[in-house]
Amino acid sequence: MGKKSNPAEIPRHVAIIMDGNGRWASQHHLPRLSGHEAGRKSVKAVAQAAIDHGVRYLTLYAFSVENWQRPRDEVQGLMGLLRGVIREELNEMGKEGIRLRTIGRRQDLPEAVREELEGAIERTKANTRLDLILALSYGSRVEITEAMQAMGREIKAGKLDPEKITEETVSAHLYTEGIPDPDLLIRTSGEMRISNFMLWQISYAEIYVTPVLWPDFGKDEFAKALADYAGRDRRFGGI
Ligand code: FPP
Repeated sequence: MGKKSNPAEIPRHVAIIMDGNGRWASQHHLPRLSGHEAGRKSVKAVAQAAIDHGVRYLTLYAFSVENWQRPRDEVQGLMGLLRGVIREELNEMGKEGIRLRTIGRRQDLPEAVREELEGAIERTKANTRLDLILALSYGSRVEITEAMQAMGREIKAGKLDPEKITEETVSAHLYTEGIPDPDLLIRTSGEMRISNFMLWQISYAEIYVTPVLWPDFGKDEFAKALADYAGRDRRFGGI
Protein backbone atom coordinates (compact mmCIF):
# COMPACT_ATOMS: atom_id res chain seq x y z
CA MET A 1 0.00 0.00 0.00
CA GLY A 2 1.17 3.48 -0.78
CA LYS A 3 1.24 6.40 1.59
CA LYS A 4 -2.24 7.57 2.61
CA SER A 5 -2.78 11.30 2.85
CA ASN A 6 -5.72 13.56 3.51
CA PRO A 7 -8.21 12.64 0.75
CA ALA A 8 -8.44 16.30 -0.27
CA GLU A 9 -4.77 16.14 -1.17
CA ILE A 10 -5.19 13.12 -3.41
CA PRO A 11 -5.71 14.15 -7.02
CA ARG A 12 -8.95 12.77 -8.39
CA HIS A 13 -7.52 12.60 -11.89
CA VAL A 14 -3.85 12.02 -12.77
CA ALA A 15 -2.74 12.26 -16.40
CA ILE A 16 0.68 11.00 -17.48
CA ILE A 17 2.86 11.66 -20.50
CA MET A 18 4.83 8.41 -20.47
CA ASP A 19 8.14 9.35 -22.06
CA GLY A 20 11.60 7.85 -22.26
CA ASN A 21 11.04 4.25 -23.33
CA GLY A 22 13.37 4.70 -26.31
CA ARG A 23 16.11 6.30 -24.19
CA TRP A 24 15.77 3.55 -21.59
CA ALA A 25 16.21 0.93 -24.33
CA SER A 26 19.29 2.60 -25.77
CA GLN A 27 20.83 2.96 -22.29
CA HIS A 28 20.36 -0.80 -21.91
CA HIS A 29 21.61 -1.54 -25.45
CA LEU A 30 18.23 -2.98 -26.36
CA PRO A 31 15.90 -2.38 -29.33
CA ARG A 32 13.30 0.38 -28.87
CA LEU A 33 10.47 -2.09 -28.57
CA SER A 34 12.10 -3.60 -25.47
CA GLY A 35 11.77 -0.12 -23.95
CA HIS A 36 8.05 -0.16 -24.65
CA GLU A 37 7.79 -3.66 -23.19
CA ALA A 38 9.55 -2.45 -20.06
CA GLY A 39 7.13 0.50 -20.05
CA ARG A 40 4.25 -1.92 -19.86
CA LYS A 41 5.39 -2.97 -16.38
CA SER A 42 5.27 0.66 -15.28
CA VAL A 43 1.71 0.95 -16.59
CA LYS A 44 0.70 -1.94 -14.40
CA ALA A 45 2.56 -0.69 -11.33
CA VAL A 46 1.16 2.82 -11.68
CA ALA A 47 -2.43 1.63 -12.19
CA GLN A 48 -2.11 -0.43 -9.00
CA ALA A 49 -0.54 2.49 -7.13
CA ALA A 50 -3.32 4.80 -8.31
CA ILE A 51 -5.89 2.40 -6.85
CA ASP A 52 -3.93 2.10 -3.58
CA HIS A 53 -3.84 5.89 -3.18
CA GLY A 54 -7.50 6.37 -4.06
CA VAL A 55 -6.99 8.16 -7.38
CA ARG A 56 -10.22 7.78 -9.35
CA TYR A 57 -9.11 8.56 -12.95
CA LEU A 58 -5.77 7.77 -14.58
CA THR A 59 -5.12 8.91 -18.15
CA LEU A 60 -2.04 7.59 -19.96
CA TYR A 61 -0.70 9.05 -23.19
CA ALA A 62 0.05 5.76 -24.92
CA PHE A 63 0.04 6.76 -28.59
CA SER A 64 -0.28 10.19 -30.16
CA VAL A 65 -1.61 11.08 -33.62
CA GLU A 66 1.98 12.10 -34.38
CA ASN A 67 3.29 8.65 -33.38
CA TRP A 68 1.92 7.15 -36.65
CA GLN A 69 4.97 8.75 -38.26
CA ARG A 70 7.37 6.45 -36.40
CA PRO A 71 9.01 3.58 -38.32
CA ARG A 72 6.51 0.92 -39.36
CA ASP A 73 8.14 -1.77 -37.22
CA GLU A 74 7.84 0.33 -34.09
CA VAL A 75 4.20 1.22 -34.79
CA GLN A 76 3.34 -2.43 -35.44
CA GLY A 77 5.24 -3.48 -32.34
CA LEU A 78 3.39 -0.96 -30.19
CA MET A 79 0.02 -2.03 -31.60
CA GLY A 80 0.84 -5.68 -30.92
CA LEU A 81 1.96 -4.81 -27.42
CA LEU A 82 -1.23 -2.91 -26.77
CA ARG A 83 -3.40 -5.76 -27.96
CA GLY A 84 -1.44 -8.25 -25.85
CA VAL A 85 -1.68 -6.10 -22.72
CA ILE A 86 -5.43 -5.74 -23.03
CA ARG A 87 -5.94 -9.43 -23.62
CA GLU A 88 -3.60 -10.54 -20.85
CA GLU A 89 -4.72 -8.00 -18.26
CA LEU A 90 -8.48 -8.14 -18.79
CA ASN A 91 -9.14 -10.53 -15.91
CA GLU A 92 -6.89 -8.56 -13.59
CA MET A 93 -8.71 -5.36 -14.53
CA GLY A 94 -11.96 -7.06 -13.59
CA LYS A 95 -10.58 -8.15 -10.22
CA GLU A 96 -9.16 -4.72 -9.43
CA GLY A 97 -12.34 -2.86 -10.40
CA ILE A 98 -10.71 -1.07 -13.34
CA ARG A 99 -12.86 0.43 -16.05
CA LEU A 100 -10.97 0.71 -19.33
CA ARG A 101 -11.71 3.69 -21.54
CA THR A 102 -9.98 5.45 -24.40
CA ILE A 103 -9.70 8.95 -25.77
CA GLY A 104 -8.53 9.62 -29.29
CA ARG A 105 -9.27 8.51 -32.83
CA ARG A 106 -10.10 4.88 -32.14
CA GLN A 107 -11.06 4.51 -35.80
CA ASP A 108 -7.37 4.91 -36.77
CA LEU A 109 -6.32 1.78 -34.87
CA PRO A 110 -5.90 -1.58 -36.63
CA GLU A 111 -9.10 -3.58 -36.51
CA ALA A 112 -7.68 -6.34 -34.31
CA VAL A 113 -6.61 -3.79 -31.69
CA ARG A 114 -9.94 -1.99 -31.89
CA GLU A 115 -11.88 -5.20 -31.37
CA GLU A 116 -9.76 -6.20 -28.40
CA LEU A 117 -10.20 -2.72 -26.92
CA GLU A 118 -13.92 -2.55 -27.52
CA GLY A 119 -14.42 -5.96 -25.92
CA ALA A 120 -12.48 -4.86 -22.84
CA ILE A 121 -14.27 -1.52 -22.64
CA GLU A 122 -17.61 -3.33 -22.72
CA ARG A 123 -16.54 -5.99 -20.21
CA THR A 124 -15.22 -3.44 -17.69
CA LYS A 125 -17.82 -0.69 -18.06
CA ALA A 126 -19.52 -1.34 -14.71
CA ASN A 127 -16.24 -1.14 -12.71
CA THR A 128 -15.91 1.87 -10.45
CA ARG A 129 -12.59 1.82 -8.60
CA LEU A 130 -10.36 3.32 -11.26
CA ASP A 131 -11.10 4.61 -14.74
CA LEU A 132 -7.99 3.75 -16.77
CA ILE A 133 -8.14 6.01 -19.79
CA LEU A 134 -5.72 5.25 -22.61
CA ALA A 135 -5.03 8.10 -25.00
CA LEU A 136 -4.64 6.28 -28.33
CA SER A 137 -4.17 8.01 -31.64
CA TYR A 138 -4.79 11.06 -29.49
CA GLY A 139 -4.05 14.67 -30.32
CA SER A 140 -5.47 17.61 -28.46
CA ARG A 141 -5.80 19.89 -31.47
CA VAL A 142 -7.63 17.26 -33.49
CA GLU A 143 -9.88 16.64 -30.47
CA ILE A 144 -10.74 20.35 -30.27
CA THR A 145 -11.18 20.53 -34.05
CA GLU A 146 -13.59 17.59 -34.03
CA ALA A 147 -15.51 19.20 -31.15
CA MET A 148 -15.86 22.40 -33.21
CA GLN A 149 -17.06 20.42 -36.21
CA ALA A 150 -19.67 18.65 -34.05
CA MET A 151 -20.86 21.95 -32.55
CA GLY A 152 -20.98 23.46 -36.05
CA ARG A 153 -23.20 20.62 -37.22
CA GLU A 154 -25.52 21.11 -34.25
CA ILE A 155 -25.73 24.84 -34.91
CA LYS A 156 -26.53 24.19 -38.57
CA ALA A 157 -29.25 21.73 -37.57
CA GLY A 158 -30.75 24.32 -35.22
CA LYS A 159 -29.99 22.24 -32.13
CA LEU A 160 -27.39 24.55 -30.63
CA ASP A 161 -27.57 28.31 -30.13
CA PRO A 162 -24.05 29.82 -30.59
CA GLU A 163 -24.82 32.45 -27.93
CA LYS A 164 -25.48 29.70 -25.42
CA ILE A 165 -22.16 27.90 -25.89
CA THR A 166 -20.38 27.74 -22.53
CA GLU A 167 -17.14 26.12 -21.37
CA GLU A 168 -19.29 23.17 -20.28
CA THR A 169 -20.68 22.85 -23.83
CA VAL A 170 -17.14 22.67 -25.21
CA SER A 171 -16.06 20.14 -22.55
CA ALA A 172 -19.06 17.99 -23.37
CA HIS A 173 -17.94 17.74 -27.01
CA LEU A 174 -14.43 16.55 -26.21
CA TYR A 175 -13.37 12.89 -26.02
CA THR A 176 -13.25 13.37 -22.24
CA GLU A 177 -16.97 14.13 -21.95
CA GLY A 178 -18.07 13.43 -18.39
CA ILE A 179 -14.51 12.94 -17.09
CA PRO A 180 -13.27 15.58 -14.62
CA ASP A 181 -10.22 17.58 -15.71
CA PRO A 182 -6.82 16.26 -14.57
CA ASP A 183 -5.61 17.70 -11.26
CA LEU A 184 -2.07 16.51 -11.77
CA LEU A 185 -0.10 16.10 -14.99
CA ILE A 186 3.06 14.01 -14.77
CA ARG A 187 5.70 13.87 -17.48
CA THR A 188 8.59 11.43 -17.26
CA SER A 189 12.09 11.69 -18.77
CA GLY A 190 12.55 15.39 -18.11
CA GLU A 191 11.15 17.00 -21.24
CA MET A 192 9.46 20.35 -20.52
CA ARG A 193 6.67 20.18 -23.06
CA ILE A 194 2.99 19.28 -23.37
CA SER A 195 3.16 17.55 -26.79
CA ASN A 196 -0.44 18.20 -27.84
CA PHE A 197 -1.86 16.47 -24.76
CA MET A 198 -5.18 17.53 -23.20
CA LEU A 199 -4.61 21.23 -23.88
CA TRP A 200 -8.13 22.24 -22.83
CA GLN A 201 -8.39 19.87 -19.88
CA ILE A 202 -5.07 20.72 -18.16
CA SER A 203 -5.85 24.43 -17.78
CA TYR A 204 -5.59 24.25 -13.98
CA ALA A 205 -3.58 21.04 -13.55
CA GLU A 206 -0.46 20.99 -11.42
CA ILE A 207 2.52 19.90 -13.51
CA TYR A 208 5.16 17.47 -12.25
CA VAL A 209 8.15 16.66 -14.45
CA THR A 210 10.65 14.03 -13.38
CA PRO A 211 13.89 13.02 -15.11
CA VAL A 212 13.06 9.35 -14.40
CA LEU A 213 12.47 7.42 -17.63
CA TRP A 214 9.04 5.78 -17.94
CA PRO A 215 10.28 2.16 -17.57
CA ASP A 216 11.92 3.18 -14.27
CA PHE A 217 8.79 4.95 -13.02
CA GLY A 218 7.01 2.70 -10.54
CA LYS A 219 4.91 2.96 -7.40
CA ASP A 220 7.56 4.84 -5.41
CA GLU A 221 7.96 7.48 -8.11
CA PHE A 222 4.19 7.79 -8.32
CA ALA A 223 3.98 8.26 -4.55
CA LYS A 224 6.64 11.00 -4.84
CA ALA A 225 4.59 12.83 -7.45
CA LEU A 226 1.49 12.63 -5.23
CA ALA A 227 3.45 13.89 -2.23
CA ASP A 228 4.68 16.83 -4.30
CA TYR A 229 1.11 17.54 -5.42
CA ALA A 230 -0.15 17.42 -1.82
CA GLY A 231 2.26 20.26 -0.99
CA ARG A 232 1.06 22.55 -3.78
CA ASP A 233 -1.13 25.56 -3.13
CA ARG A 234 -3.83 25.42 -5.80
CA ARG A 235 -5.46 28.78 -6.26
CA PHE A 236 -7.23 28.47 -9.65
CA GLY A 237 -6.43 32.11 -10.39
CA GLY A 238 -7.62 33.35 -6.98
CA ILE A 239 -5.33 34.46 -4.14
C1 FPP B 1 7.24 7.23 -25.14
O1 FPP B 1 8.57 6.84 -25.16
C2 FPP B 1 6.33 6.12 -25.10
C3 FPP B 1 5.45 5.74 -26.06
C4 FPP B 1 5.31 6.48 -27.34
C5 FPP B 1 4.60 4.56 -25.93
C6 FPP B 1 4.04 4.23 -24.58
C7 FPP B 1 3.70 2.81 -24.56
C8 FPP B 1 3.86 1.96 -23.52
C9 FPP B 1 4.31 2.38 -22.18
C10 FPP B 1 3.56 0.52 -23.77
C11 FPP B 1 2.43 -0.09 -23.05
C12 FPP B 1 1.27 0.80 -22.93
C13 FPP B 1 0.03 0.50 -22.60
C14 FPP B 1 -0.92 1.59 -22.30
C15 FPP B 1 -0.48 -0.86 -22.49
P1 FPP B 1 9.48 7.25 -26.42
O2 FPP B 1 9.49 6.09 -27.34
O3 FPP B 1 9.01 8.52 -26.99
O4 FPP B 1 10.87 7.43 -25.72
P2 FPP B 1 12.08 8.34 -26.19
O5 FPP B 1 11.57 9.76 -26.19
O6 FPP B 1 13.11 8.09 -25.15
O7 FPP B 1 12.49 7.85 -27.56
